[in-house]
Amino acid sequence: MNENFKLNLPHRPRRLRRNPARLAMCAETSLSPSDLIQPLFVVEGRNKCEKIDSMPGISRLSIDRLLKKCETLLALGVPAVALFPQINPRLKNNDADEAVNPDSVQNKAIRAVKKRFPELQVVADIALDPYTSHGHDGILNKDGDWILNDETVEVLVAMSAVAAQSGADFIAPSDMMDGRVGAIREALDELGFENTAIMAYTAKYASAFYGPFREAVGTLKKGKSGVDKSGYQLNPANTREALREASLDEKEGADIIMVKPAGHYLDIVSKLRQATSLPIAAYQVSGEYSMVCAAAQNGWIDFDKIRDESLISIKRAGADMILTYFAESFAQSFKSKK
Ligand code: PBG
Repeated sequence: MNENFKLNLPHRPRRLRRNPARLAMCAETSLSPSDLIQPLFVVEGRNKCEKIDSMPGISRLSIDRLLKKCETLLALGVPAVALFPQINPRLKNNDADEAVNPDSVQNKAIRAVKKRFPELQVVADIALDPYTSHGHDGILNKDGDWILNDETVEVLVAMSAVAAQSGADFIAPSDMMDGRVGAIREALDELGFENTAIMAYTAKYASAFYGPFREAVGTLKKGKSGVDKSGYQLNPANTREALREASLDEKEGADIIMVKPAGHYLDIVSKLRQATSLPIAAYQVSGEYSMVCAAAQNGWIDFDKIRDESLISIKRAGADMILTYFAESFAQSFKSKK
């Protein structure tokens, strides 16, 4: 080492990385529990907390246990939950009749949560897959090879109305049928629910990262990615198609648009950030969560650090809020660091 060696450098970006205070002052993005939405799985019954093998730390909860979980989340500063039901197989059929039942486990859960915690924002997922015997998000044609668009939208509109009546703050169509946002907005307004907002799954890709979720809601066997939804969800090869969906959803009256999955679709988040002034949500999905858990359980990665890095990256790409199974865990760490 030559002690006299000195670069003549006017620009030394590392100056700003000198200490924690400077790092904090120069942070371009921040993450707090108020950015997060916790997805929760609901099941019929009492005092139930059923572990989901492929999603360590996440369980299907009966409504009594769901309320306890909501209390914890609120106390941690998480402002919103997204509810997903597991439906008894005996209640499933080809037409998804249970989806519009005001006393479905989903609608009972919405009512119970809103009654106990009026301030907690409840996002109601609107799609038929938990309710159809075949596991598709819509009504199947006679040949069983195509999901019927307009027939499906008719059911989604009725399902949205019941969810709004149950007290949902956000109607979140996750089905990817054409024209559903406009049809739902119109129906909500006619019924006097002009303050019920629409969080549209705008760029929802046909992804194998949904595998563990499909196990959680009982639409598939473990370790497989399930039915092929490429007839309605987006092709992972495409960007322009997401922009097109976004402009349609915006015109149809979406309040918030969503990109899903998140981590492998940050370019889409970033491009939509340029293209719209609407708030953007990103959904860090079950497979993204499971992969982190699996590697951490093997001692291969640091769970907390990867959790935080994956979340801040999604914000950096341009998301305003993140649906993530890490919400509770992040919020707990956030609180303990304060
Ligand atoms: C239902 C729905 C799915 C997810 C959210 N809503 C599954 C799917 O489209 O098959 C996936 C969420 C996750 O993987 O965490 N339409």
